Amino acid sequence: MTHPTPPLAQLVRSVVDAHRHLRAPLLVVLQAIQDRAGYIDEEVIPLLATELNLSRADVHGVVTFYRDFRREPPGRTTIRVCRAEACQSVGAEQLVAALERALGVKVGQTADDGSTTFDQVFCLGNCALGPSAQINGQVHGRLDTDRVLAIVQAQAS
Ligand code: FES
Repeated sequence: MTHPTPPLAQLVRSVVDAHRHLRAPLLVVLQAIQDRAGYIDEEVIPLLATELNLSRADVHGVVTFYRDFRREPPGRTTIRVCRAEACQSVGAEQLVAALERALGVKVGQTADDGSTTFDQVFCLGNCALGPSAQINGQVHGRLDTDRVLAIVQAQAS
């Protein structure tokens, strides 16, 4: 078993301390760690289990159950296209297929050069403005491939 780096261990302990008062803090703690570290490193799991008095299997089970928890570092740009019903009805599937071709990355993968993580999500609360996607944490609507690529380019410059 390997251990998290000292900065990562410090991050985990500070996040746990900030949420220790909650009755069931695991999900909130995992979300906070991902927000700050970008993903849930495998090495965090034993430390979290100890800090929260849970088994490693409990923590591992939650991390692997929820698709929102990333287990690898994300790309520099993260695109999450909504594939829920309202967005599907206005072309989300075509948008996903076109973006896979344009980005050279399949849904659920990160480009080999680390430039882009392409993922899916099921509803961003922007249903009236579909197709919707979250690009680097910001929700955008009425998207097509050109618009997604323009937003990515604008954010990179
Ligand atoms: S269905 Fe896509 S944002 Fe709600």
